[in-house]
Amino acid sequence: MSMHRVFVSRQIFPEAIDLIKSEAQVDLWEDELPPSRETLLEKVKGIDGLLCLLTDKVDVELMDTAGPQLKVISQIAVGFDNIDISEATSRGIPVGNTPEVLTQTTADATWALLMAAARRIVEGSNSVHNGNWRTWHPLHYLGQDVYGATLGIIGLGRIGIEVAKRANGFDMEVIYSDLFRNEAAEEEHNLRYVDQQTLLKEADFVSLHTVLNDKTYHLIGDNEFEAMKETAVLVNAARGPVVDPQALYRALKEGKIAAAALDVTEPEPIPMDDPLLTLDNCVIVPHIASASVATRREMSRLSAQNLINGLKGVPLETCVNPQVYENL
Ligand code: GLV
Repeated sequence: MSMHRVFVSRQIFPEAIDLIKSEAQVDLWEDELPPSRETLLEKVKGIDGLLCLLTDKVDVELMDTAGPQLKVISQIAVGFDNIDISEATSRGIPVGNTPEVLTQTTADATWALLMAAARRIVEGSNSVHNGNWRTWHPLHYLGQDVYGATLGIIGLGRIGIEVAKRANGFDMEVIYSDLFRNEAAEEEHNLRYVDQQTLLKEADFVSLHTVLNDKTYHLIGDNEFEAMKETAVLVNAARGPVVDPQALYRALKEGKIAAAALDVTEPEPIPMDDPLLTLDNCVIVPHIASASVATRREMSRLSAQNLINGLKGVPLETCVNPQVYENL
């Protein structure tokens, strides 16, 4: 029997590629940059499985082009806003993602961003590298205290909870807003549930951990910045479009909030002429919150295993649309 054919849209850990090769014929996209749309459509023609990234748009056109034999879509990321899940579900195609394995690493990175923006670490480091460290000055590089402050988590999912837990060590009060209340987490981690408006008013640090969908697109815009403290710091390690970037620029420029730290932007990569890049009080890193060696290795393994399970018709270890198994 001929082997299944799969397209892997970027280099992942080699042992994960070897794992897939033991089960399927692999077409691996080795370039650093994503395949163009045209190339991606060409590559998926006739494949049985796709291992994709959040930079690949997996929509009706792609699934049509791949053909009816497509058995599985395995994303190496926890987020999947680039994939038309309802379309995949209606075709009975399981979609895998990589939750859990990146939760702690992403929570760590959220804190790195929070601390960097609060204490102006990047700005200070740049000044040293640029030869501008001329003396110790009582009024230079004054930031915001983290210890004892109020942390506001918008979106209390797995990552939001881990970010909240880390706040205990800083004796912070932690408040959260979400569509759903999680009383067990409140009890366990000493969290207070508030509506979003209250959160924006009370929090010294606002950290975003929502998914991106129609309801969360530009969730944070002019009105929300207006509600925040002038000393507040915004952290976004969720998805770029959750924040309106023009409103963020105005808020940072006009001092409506003190600083922001972004792992994600709209669009990605952020264009070099984006005004946010002119601001000292905006830390921006290139979507690296899950980028530790161990986590990316595990994400590689899990996405490879999901791909293989899908090819074999076995339930995926982590499946976004388990409804596809309901009628089996
Ligand atoms: C990265 O952003 C992910 O969703 O895993």
